Amino acid sequence: MSAIPDLPILVGKGRDESHPVSHSQVTMTQLMAPQDTNLMGNVFGGVILAAVDRIAYVCATRHSGRPCVTASFDQVDFRSAIQIGEVVTVQASVNTVGRTSMEIGVRVTAEPVTGGDSRHTNSCYVTMVALDPDGRPCAVPKLEVQTEDEYRRYRDAEERRAARLELAKRRQGRRGKKAGG
Ligand SMILES: CC(C)(COP(=O)(O)OP(=O)(O)OC[C@H]1O[C@@H](n2cnc3c(N)ncnc32)[C@H](O)[C@@H]1OP(=O)(O)O)[C@@H](O)C(=O)NCCC(=O)NCCS
Repeated sequence: MSAIPDLPILVGKGRDESHPVSHSQVTMTQLMAPQDTNLMGNVFGGVILAAVDRIAYVCATRHSGRPCVTASFDQVDFRSAIQIGEVVTVQASVNTVGRTSMEIGVRVTAEPVTGGDSRHTNSCYVTMVALDPDGRPCAVPKLEVQTEDEYRRYRDAEERRAARLELAKRRQGRRGKKAGG
């Protein structure tokens, strides 16, 4: 593992102003009811994805101060089923920022409404892009990475960002070849 630099550090290529990670951290809870589940009482994956998208929007909009759109979702693995009558908690924070985009990390946990052990059911990484009043991507404030945990999330997010850009480049190259014959 690479050494941790002196913290805090400022990351991003957007506006000169900055916000700490804590400025935009959000937590939401929701009781899973019959309309959220199939006939077996298992919660639909799409219900969880909608909650993830919503909280990522709130987190990104708080950081950027601009309305945002979802550019992409990374792969999502559901580690265990969530049942009707469980309380789902989603927690979001900004992991890293580029010029106009932000990677939001979302952690999902579930526990019985009556209380008891909480279990981690999945984590997702959502890329949100801030928009100007004409609907074009616009620069976002830099991110102040203050703690060792925030630095670890930032470093992992930068690795994912590099992998995403590389994949997008390769896909574009393949499409270009096809179009060119
Ligand atoms: C996301 C969107 C605004 C990007 O527009 P664009 O013209 O490609 O803009 P750019 O090429 O300038 O990219 C803007 C930023 O988005 C990032 N980005 C674009 N497509 C991306 C993707 N598929 N995954 C991750 N990041 C992406 C770029 O890396 C760039 O980040 P940076 O400024 O931090 O370096 C545009 O594709 C869009 O509006 N998509 C629809 C979004 C939407 O409606 N979502 C809800 C679905 S119902």
